[in-house]
Amino acid sequence: MISDRMLIRGGKPLSGLVSAQGAKNAALPAMAASLLLRGRRLKLSRVPDLQDIHTMAGLLRHLGAEIEFSGGIMTIDVPEDLKWETPSDLVRQMRASSLVLGPLVARCGRAVLPLPGGCAIGSRPIDFHLKALSRMGAEIDLEQGSVHARTGGLSAARISFDFPSVGATENIMMTAALTEGETAIENAAREPEIVNLADVLRAMGASIEGDGTGTILVRGSRDLGDAEATIIPDRIEASTYLLAGVITRGRVQVGGIDPGHIAALTAKLEEAGVPLDIGPEAVSAAREGLCWNGVTIKTLPYPGFPTDMQPQIMAALCLAEGTSVIHESVFDSRYMHVGEFRRMGCKIDIQGNTAVIAGVPRVSGAEVHASDLRAGAALILLGLAAEGETVVCELKHVWRGYEMLMDKMRSLGADIELLPCDGPEGALDEAGG
Ligand code: EPZ
Repeated sequence: MISDRMLIRGGKPLSGLVSAQGAKNAALPAMAASLLLRGRRLKLSRVPDLQDIHTMAGLLRHLGAEIEFSGGIMTIDVPEDLKWETPSDLVRQMRASSLVLGPLVARCGRAVLPLPGGCAIGSRPIDFHLKALSRMGAEIDLEQGSVHARTGGLSAARISFDFPSVGATENIMMTAALTEGETAIENAAREPEIVNLADVLRAMGASIEGDGTGTILVRGSRDLGDAEATIIPDRIEASTYLLAGVITRGRVQVGGIDPGHIAALTAKLEEAGVPLDIGPEAVSAAREGLCWNGVTIKTLPYPGFPTDMQPQIMAALCLAEGTSVIHESVFDSRYMHVGEFRRMGCKIDIQGNTAVIAGVPRVSGAEVHASDLRAGAALILLGLAAEGETVVCELKHVWRGYEMLMDKMRSLGADIELLPCDGPEGALDEAGG
């Protein structure tokens, strides 16, 4: 039984070097892309050992794939014939399950996918995905809360997204990779995870140009082949540890990353007065009695400030000298963590999608509850900086995205431990993270 509660004794500066894990949000689409193969193998390196990765592996196994995963290396063997109905219990666990929709329609001509529910950060529809698949020739029906998609054959098309949706871009890239002709994706997402997926698809034999820009051209092939690819470093996990150093006035170096992937964050930290040493691979926040000013941040699609760092930067700005303003422009309700922050003494006023944060000199420990993955990470950061003890509950959200979190935080000097589960006495083993 993995513990769901963490005790943090705050106030200790964190210092040292941590290396980034493989990116969760690159590994998940890469795994889904394996469904495009027929009787072939995809081998992925630097796959993080996370709850979401195991959920996706369970979904692929349900569809018929055979998966070996050990030491960051994942091999996925895809049979000639695949199932195309996805199980509700798995899909409802993880929104990223929607990434199998395009590959299944392209590979099997059919797919049934329970509509992923909303979550703590917003309604999270998949209308962009469905509209684009229709443009390529799929018939889409919604019956009993599931998407029923079918096609007699897909055609290349010109797709233009109303918003540069990461998941929709990924779904259509994969669909187009198995569709003859040239599909153009306009107003495409530009995240590094998109480029990583393009590398996976190119390794399979698809021809892709423009990944990382707003217009991606995909020339598909009906027979993609065995492929090997490496997952990029996780820019959000790395950024979280960098902020752990800042918020505790320590000095944390994150290694194994591409500093360009976190440029929006490092630019904001420097604007706030946080001295950084940005090397070819690593970034560290300097110590020297660190203090920082309030700043204004608007979350945007890449290369803008990432919404997945909004709760974490908010935690640091709660301890800034001065007032900060955050505009959350990507999700329609990503402030579930604010109530928990206030319990620790943060002064935050929410007006619509705007948060006004008045910096305070200190925050104090409390029992707080994680509402989602990044909110949980942010509460851990606050607990590390707080005076006294903090108990962060509902860690199940955190284990979804942070590999070896306890070991990495302890290696930086954090005084943290997992508490026995509230439920039946179970052997308390260290969480997967
Ligand atoms: C991906 O989610 C990430 N997840 C999210 O990370 C990340 O927050 C998000 O991109 C934005 O960067 C994975 O990659 C697995 P979107 P995704 O489609 O693809 C709306 C984490 O913490 N929208 O770019 O679901 C949507 O509601 C997670 O690791 C539609 O309206 O994000 C949102 O407001 C959280 N219709 C906005 O677009 C659609 O069809 C951006 O969503 C699709 C999206």
